[in-house]
Amino acid sequence: MIRETCLSPDCFVYPLFVTSGKGVKKEISSMPGCYQESVDVIVGSAKEVYSLGIPAILLFGIPETKDELGTSAYDEKGVVQDAIRAIKDAVPELYVITDVCMCEYTSHGHCGFIENGDVDNDKTLALLSLEAVSHARAGADMVAPSDMMDGRVAAIRSALGREGFSSIPIMSYAAKYASAFYGPFREAAESTPQFGDRRTYQMDPANKREALKEVALDIEEGADIIMVKPALAYLDVISLVKSSFALPLAAYNVSGEYSMIKAAGQMGWIDEKRAMMEMLLSIKRAGADIIITYFAKDAARVLNS
Ligand code: PBG
Repeated sequence: MIRETCLSPDCFVYPLFVTSGKGVKKEISSMPGCYQESVDVIVGSAKEVYSLGIPAILLFGIPETKDELGTSAYDEKGVVQDAIRAIKDAVPELYVITDVCMCEYTSHGHCGFIENGDVDNDKTLALLSLEAVSHARAGADMVAPSDMMDGRVAAIRSALGREGFSSIPIMSYAAKYASAFYGPFREAAESTPQFGDRRTYQMDPANKREALKEVALDIEEGADIIMVKPALAYLDVISLVKSSFALPLAAYNVSGEYSMIKAAGQMGWIDEKRAMMEMLLSIKRAGADIIITYFAKDAARVLNS
């Protein structure tokens, strides 16, 4: 009765990785229990997620082919577009959010258009807009730009409006840091940059006030939900953003945070279940309304039992 913070499956979003082919279910070695799945297989996973009381998924695509411009990101017959249609068909109540970024689709693994050896911010906006519109057209309920280009929320907002999707909300990865904790994800999404790193567009982990600036810009541009990412090493940022803005706040409990607990649990060095629940609770306590987590299914099972 007097407990200040409580977790519920309602606040979780579960990330899913869709790949090309048929009958594919390939475990991600650095993320035990997480898989790359083809469209036919991912439908079953979506059903399982919904049956556990988790209201939403976040879809990532691993396309069959990659090129300089990441054209498969906005292909109407792309893996993510196919998966959205199949999932909405099989489990219409499950809320489908799509990650909007170029890094999974470009041959160089960067989050945008490359010019003179670096990402060109403004030229990337057009590609992200195409991608967001193509997700909406396939039936996505919400789009989540994760690239960290300046001005992308405004660009996506107006592209969605122009194409008749003005009611599709945008969850922006507003304060996204250049983090080592994304390591396992890059294996999962096959999106490791082939040269350089993402520090010209993702944030410096040393900066907190800058997070307020990034969030304010995204809200001004039309974001409906804002996100802080990663979560565990940035609880102070979550808390600050929560107390500074009135929008719903999501926190991304990223791949490295998942893998650390899984690995230590498998070694018998830590009580995996308790550590998982304590970590999720701390993210909620810091102020997150929504937690995007690879632990969503495991935690929902604990909460439901
Ligand atoms: C795409 C993207 C990344 C993550 C989510 N969207 C990777 C990155 O920025 O390199 C990371 C998620 C995770 O580590 O769980 N830009």
